[in-house]
Amino acid sequence: MLCYPAKIESFLEKTMSAIKPKLSIKLRIGLKYPDEVLQLIPIFNQYPLEELIIHPRTGVQMYEGEVDLDMFEQCLNLSKHRVIYNGDIDSFEKYKMLSLRFGSIKRWMIGRGLIGNPFLAEKIKYHTEKPYDEKIKIMRAFHDHLFAEYLKILSGPAHITNKMKEIWTYMSGFFENGEKIRKKINKTHHRDNYVDVVNKVFDELV
Ligand SMILES: Cc1cc2nc3c(=O)[nH]c(=O)nc-3n(C[C@H](O)[C@H](O)[C@H](O)COP(=O)(O)O)c2cc1C
Repeated sequence: MLCYPAKIESFLEKTMSAIKPKLSIKLRIGLKYPDEVLQLIPIFNQYPLEELIIHPRTGVQMYEGEVDLDMFEQCLNLSKHRVIYNGDIDSFEKYKMLSLRFGSIKRWMIGRGLIGNPFLAEKIKYHTEKPYDEKIKIMRAFHDHLFAEYLKILSGPAHITNKMKEIWTYMSGFFENGEKIRKKINKTHHRDNYVDVVNKVFDELV
């Protein structure tokens, strides 16, 4: 809906008066063009939204190219609502750089960076870091739990391996030899084979 400001306005006009829970909006800065958002912020300003979560890329960009921090800054200056930054926070250093530039931002949303390093939030919030062995144990428990839960809802031998391979595209970044691990896992096509390979990977890590 990003390139249809009138539709967004009409949607908000109808829903805001009808719903009781708070409404937050998560958006990219445009579908095709990064300045599309500039037409939307004044519309959002008319409504009592809880917050805006902005990922400063366009829709067509997918995850290509850089996040547009200048456009994010313009949104921040225009918006009456609390703004949350979302995009490419995959290390403490990246968070630090962004928090220095956007001092007024108090909330951050992290997606892929947390699949790749589930300990990043702890590092950002408390400046603490667990020992490597403990991290690996937690990663393994997380993996096994996720796998068990997906098994309950996915049928067919390739469904589960495909789902887990998607997770590993991000999770492999955590390990020093991540690329090698990802390649090994990508070669599995059946559940049992996948479990064997992953168990071996984790056994070798500790
Ligand atoms: C596997 C995956 C699933 C996602 N699912 C959703 C979703 O259901 N709703 C949503 O608004 N964004 C979803 N996103 C987008 C993220 O919330 C986030 O906006 C985007 O990945 C950019 O943040 P990041 O650079 O920290 O990953 C998803 C992203 C990934 C990688």
